[in-house]
Amino acid sequence: MGSLSGRLALVTGGSRGIGRAVAVALAEDGAEVAVAYRRDDDAAAKTVAAIEAAGSRGHAYRASVDDLDACRDLAARVEAEHGRLDVLVHSAGIASRGHSVADTDPAELTRVLGVHALGPHHLTQALLPLLRRAERSDVVFVSSVITGIYPPFSGPYAMGKAAMEALAHTLAKEERGHGMHVNIVAPGLVDTDMGQRLVRATLGVDDIRRQDAASPYGHVCSPEEVADVVRFLVSDAASYVTDQRVVVDGGTF
Ligand SMILES: NC(=O)c1ccc[n+]([C@@H]2O[C@H](COP(=O)([O-])OP(=O)(O)OC[C@H]3O[C@@H](n4cnc5c(N)ncnc54)[C@H](OP(=O)(O)O)[C@@H]3O)[C@@H](O)[C@H]2O)c1
Repeated sequence: MGSLSGRLALVTGGSRGIGRAVAVALAEDGAEVAVAYRRDDDAAAKTVAAIEAAGSRGHAYRASVDDLDACRDLAARVEAEHGRLDVLVHSAGIASRGHSVADTDPAELTRVLGVHALGPHHLTQALLPLLRRAERSDVVFVSSVITGIYPPFSGPYAMGKAAMEALAHTLAKEERGHGMHVNIVAPGLVDTDMGQRLVRATLGVDDIRRQDAASPYGHVCSPEEVADVVRFLVSDAASYVTDQRVVVDGGTF
C-alpha cells in the first residue's frame, strides 16, 4: 500500500513526457490515476498500461484543456465515473513558435494562452466541487523556469506560464480553508518531445542527449526527476507545504 492509496489523481498532458512520468510515479505511490490528453490515443494507452504495470488502476480521457466545454465534460465524467478527485496535476503544454512580439500571430497567442492559462483555470473551476469534497486535495501546476527570465521570442509561452502561476498562487490562498494544497513545479530543459523540439529549434541540435555533458550533474533533466518533486508535494511528507514554486533545473537559473 503506497502513501497515496485510496486517492484518485487526474494528470493533464499525462499521455507523454512529464505528465506520463507523473502519472506513473503517483501510481507507484498507490494512487489510481486518470490521464487527460489531446489527440495521441496510442501514447495515452501506453501510459495507462504503465500505470497498471505499476500496480494501480489507470484511465484515459481525450479532452483538450483549451476548450471550456471539454473541461466541463471531463469534470462531469470524472464525477460520474469516480465520484471523487484528490489530486489534479496540470502538465498539458505546447511550445510557442519562437516569434518576436512583432511577428506573433494572434491565433497562436490565443492557442498557447488557452492551453497554459485559461484551460487550467476552466478545468480547476469545473473540478472544485469534487476537490473540496476531499479531506486533503492537491493541485500542482507544471510551469517553467521561463517566468522570471522572459527571454526574447517566447512571448506567448512566457505569458501563459506567468498567468498559470498567478492562478496557482491565487487558488492556494482561496482554497486552503477547504484543505487544498496548491504548488508550482518549474522545470528547466527536460528530456521529452517538447524538450527535443526546443533544442532543435534553438541550438540546431538533433539529439537532446548531446546536451548532457553541458548540463548540471552531466545529464539533461529526466521527466522522472520532475515527477519525483510532484510526488513529494502531494505526499504526506508535504502536509504543511502550499503556495510554493519549486524550480527543478539543477541550479541553472
Ligand atoms: N520539456 C521541457 O523542456 C519543459 C520545460 C519546462 C516546462 N515544461 C512544461 O511541462 C509540461 C509538459 O511538457 P512535456 O515536455 O512533457 O511536453 P510533451 O512531451 O510535448 O507532452 C505534452 C503533453 O501535453 C498534452 N497536450 C498538449 N496540448 C493539450 C491540450 N490542449 N489538451 C490536453 N492535453 C494537451 C499532450 O497530449 P497529446 O499527446 O495528445 O498531444 C501531451 O500529453 C508543459 O506544460 C510544458 O510547458 C516542459
